Amino acid sequence: MENSISGGDFEYLSGFGNHFSSEALAGALPPAQNSPLVCPYGLYAEQISGTSFTSPRNRNLRSWFYRIKPSVTHEPFKSRIPSNERILSEFNNSNTSTNPTQLRWKPIHVPDSPTDFIDGLFTMCGSGSSFMRHGYAIHMYTANKSMDNCAFCNADGDFLIVPQQGRLLITTECGRLKVSPGEIAILPQGFRFAVSLPDGPSRGYVAEIFGTHFQLPDLGPIGANGLAAPRDFLVPTAWFEDKSYPGYTIVQKFGGELFFAVQDFSPFNVVAWHGNYVPYKYNLSKFCPYNTVLFDHSDPSINTVLTAPTDKPGVALLDFVIFPPRWLVAEHTFRPPYYHRNCMSEFMGLIHGGYEAKADGFLPGGASLHNCMTPHGPDTKSYEATIARGNDVGPHKITDTMAFMFESCLIPRISKWAVESPFLDKDYYQCWIGLRSHFAVTETISNSRKCQYDE
Ligand SMILES: [Fe+2]
Repeated sequence: MENSISGGDFEYLSGFGNHFSSEALAGALPPAQNSPLVCPYGLYAEQISGTSFTSPRNRNLRSWFYRIKPSVTHEPFKSRIPSNERILSEFNNSNTSTNPTQLRWKPIHVPDSPTDFIDGLFTMCGSGSSFMRHGYAIHMYTANKSMDNCAFCNADGDFLIVPQQGRLLITTECGRLKVSPGEIAILPQGFRFAVSLPDGPSRGYVAEIFGTHFQLPDLGPIGANGLAAPRDFLVPTAWFEDKSYPGYTIVQKFGGELFFAVQDFSPFNVVAWHGNYVPYKYNLSKFCPYNTVLFDHSDPSINTVLTAPTDKPGVALLDFVIFPPRWLVAEHTFRPPYYHRNCMSEFMGLIHGGYEAKADGFLPGGASLHNCMTPHGPDTKSYEATIARGNDVGPHKITDTMAFMFESCLIPRISKWAVESPFLDKDYYQCWIGLRSHFAVTETISNSRKCQYDE
């Protein structure tokens, strides 16, 4: 195990896209090949591939597990009862609707009845199809109970989990991740994992992508440094248990449906592994934001943490963008986000604090959806407060905030329960209705002339 970092009682490897290796028992990794006739300690060799075998080398993802028993050792899959019909992986007019209206949800309550991560997961919106390997789903979860005697496996896509309330202890085949609100976890397609909730009632957001994987955005003229640094991504180190677990179930999400298979051992029996297809986490406070230092508001893409690309250059299947604490210094500039209509669609959430463009109503644990070409921007209160401060406002630091956005080129369809949710804020539109006309011909001309004279 090299370059390991201690994170409390868990150890991590650092880096993004590296070819990692980790062993929980010294000598468990075969020294010179992937699949020897007999592996050290009598382990089974098993590969998990995240891209087609023939993908170009710079995009090829796979890892090798050296495990006590192989994953295949289980009874046949059966439909899980109870199912979770609030999970979708295909979006069409039979199961979802479209709506160009600006939508916002108040924080969704965590249920009182025992609910684990699997049963607490529900789809808000999405586009495309997991079967066609193109599209995404945006889910949320509200849960209060650790998964017990079972592991989850998502055969449909990669999860990007954004906890908002409550830590997640995620055991994966590569080892364990402790993920607090303010951090994110990526669980790639196919990995088996179990989520424990040490803080009880928990809530968060999940972006799921079909047919591709997250990567770091190109930095262009920013240069070689800035935004999310590769070294701040943390990968678990090998951890295993060798116990009998009668009735242990693997719950597999496949085409949005849940199936289960019984086995009598823990799937977390990987003694050593190596490869570049791995789960990982990232602390959003490590993000190095860039911004204007003179005038105008930058496009939100400047704050992209991770991007899932399409085949079109610069067009994302899903960008994960954050709005972290930062200094605002722009002169003679409307500093909050500008009013706009976007050919991309924007789902936002708030982890803690407030959001600069919404004085009221957008709360931690809530969400909003501004669909393709739907106008949006600061609410009336934020607009009036900003212009009232005038041009003389000095440098100002936005603190105690962490909002984020999932942005996609594919237009999301909205689930029934998201539309029918009692947490849907039916008065959202009211936050803009009060925007009044400031149009004044005389004043505008005189201001314009004043600027010309000043120059
Ligand atoms: Fe926007």
